Amino acid sequence: MSFSCPLCHAALTERSGAFCCPQGHQFDRAKEGYVNLLPVQHKRSREPGDSIEMMRARRHFLEAGHYAPLRDELVQVLTRLSVINAPQYLDIGCGEGYYTSAFAALAKRQGGLCYGLDVSKAAIRYAARRYPEAMFCVASSYRLPFHAHTFDGVIRIYAPCEAAELARVIKPNGLLLTVSPGPRHLYQLKSLIYREVQLHAARQEMLEGFSLEETYTPAWTMTLSGDSAAALLQMTPFAWRARPEVPGNLLQRVDFSCETDFLIHVWRRNA
Ligand SMILES: C[S@@+](CC[C@H](N)C(=O)[O-])C[C@H]1O[C@@H](n2cnc3c(N)ncnc32)[C@H](O)[C@@H]1O
Ligand SMILES: [Zn+2]
Repeated sequence: MSFSCPLCHAALTERSGAFCCPQGHQFDRAKEGYVNLLPVQHKRSREPGDSIEMMRARRHFLEAGHYAPLRDELVQVLTRLSVINAPQYLDIGCGEGYYTSAFAALAKRQGGLCYGLDVSKAAIRYAARRYPEAMFCVASSYRLPFHAHTFDGVIRIYAPCEAAELARVIKPNGLLLTVSPGPRHLYQLKSLIYREVQLHAARQEMLEGFSLEETYTPAWTMTLSGDSAAALLQMTPFAWRARPEVPGNLLQRVDFSCETDFLIHVWRRNA
């Protein structure tokens, strides 16, 4: 299995440090091991995706293990449901690779491989440097640089994408795991920012081409140090709404209790 060319969709083959297609399009493998498959003409902004500051904050927070129960649960679900030999997995919007590394370890035990994809080059650089066991690429989730029916399992943790593109790259009967925030996710953090916290609406997502098989709702309360709480704020999209004194106040906290509330959906691609 390999990548497909983002310009002409032919198969890319790796030759002396570059991925090339028969039409002569060429994408170099960076020294960190990843490949950038996001051509300039497909970029919507100069530096798409999460910034390096968000990435640093996310790594700081995730490395402290605050979301380890979510990662463990995802690996357990995948282990139980994906009983194939040499599976191919893809983590979409993989960020700095915290979850990807766990899926890659599972894939390796099963004789397969895990890919991580993100539109943010800063994120992929971080990920590839730290986790050589996975294969990382810069690309958009709306134009996945893979052939049809490539993956046995795709994991999407908070990343945007389209059902049709997911259905294209997943094998018939393959798995899709999606993670989204549950109603009370980060309630206490949000109450520092909004006068009235709106609970996340529990909308039932429909994904055409997939059937919903299982739902899990892992939730727990974290006790965070001041710097972990400040990192959590910085990695969330509502950080920019916070009053200027909020990050500093969080940093001064000895501890900060905050609820997590996740929604894991397990989908099966229709045959
Ligand atoms: C909230 S973060 C989640 C990152 C990671 N899954 C995690 O939970 O740590 C969302 C990620 O999606 C990426 N992203 C946003 N738009 C994207 C797109 N169109 N294609 C691929 N990745 C995208 C961002 O760069 C960011 O890394
Ligand atoms: Zn090409």
